[in-house]
Amino acid sequence: MAQHLTQADRAKFAAARRAVDCVEDGMKLGLGTGSTAAWMVRCLAERAREENLRLTCVPTSTRTAELARSLGLKVVGLDQAGWLDLTIDGADEFDADLNLIKGGGGALLLEKIVATASDRMIVISDASKEVKTLGGFPLPVEVIPFGWQASKLLIEELLSGLDVMGSTATMRMNGNKPFITDEGNHLLDLSLGRIGNPRQLSLALNQVPGVVENGLFIDICDAVVIGYADGRVEMRDPIAGTVEEERIIFVESDNIFQDI
Ligand code: 5RP
Repeated sequence: MAQHLTQADRAKFAAARRAVDCVEDGMKLGLGTGSTAAWMVRCLAERAREENLRLTCVPTSTRTAELARSLGLKVVGLDQAGWLDLTIDGADEFDADLNLIKGGGGALLLEKIVATASDRMIVISDASKEVKTLGGFPLPVEVIPFGWQASKLLIEELLSGLDVMGSTATMRMNGNKPFITDEGNHLLDLSLGRIGNPRQLSLALNQVPGVVENGLFIDICDAVVIGYADGRVEMRDPIAGTVEEERIIFVESDNIFQDI
């Protein structure tokens, strides 16, 4: 039930519910990954059921695919869907230009492919993810397993010449084994503290042999919905030049909260 949700979950739910209002019948949608995106998938499935919406969904991870399917959404791969109308996803950090750090949940590669294959990307978040300068959250970089230690050394060397505060790369672990992404790769988390020039860093990282993609999303996100635990939501759309505020009502009997 909604009253048993944590403050963070209430904020994530509010953002997700507002973002799902941007979905229209017949749309092809990219579905993000993570706890905020999971709320969005639940809200989307509920809207689709209540309004009989015909939607085609492209998930960005096996986790999201399983959730979407279990809730009755039509799930296809990106090649089957072609170009997408809208992707809704969470983020680990966003700045005033709506540049993002993503990949905390390990799905940055598909998330970036899906978001850039969409007319529009909306990020859903609680207020804690907004930062003045990106880099407090460790930046995930996906590397192929072959020679990952060489890639790590090259990345650390590269970082020492760039406008960042730290230069340590740490292999993400899953227990005592390296974390494996859905695509069979590893993740290096870069402790940077502050990223002075995110665009330059993103370009430079992707030049390192063995790097598949990095978690900086530059000029990809079009709008952000920030949710608060009391149901307030703020939607910032710099392209339209609008900032809208609303309040989401938590309906305690809502099906969406029954299995939480
Ligand atoms: C997954 C991501 C997530 O969007 C990001 O980690 C935010 O997750 P959450 O909504 O659980 O805070 O990038 O790769």
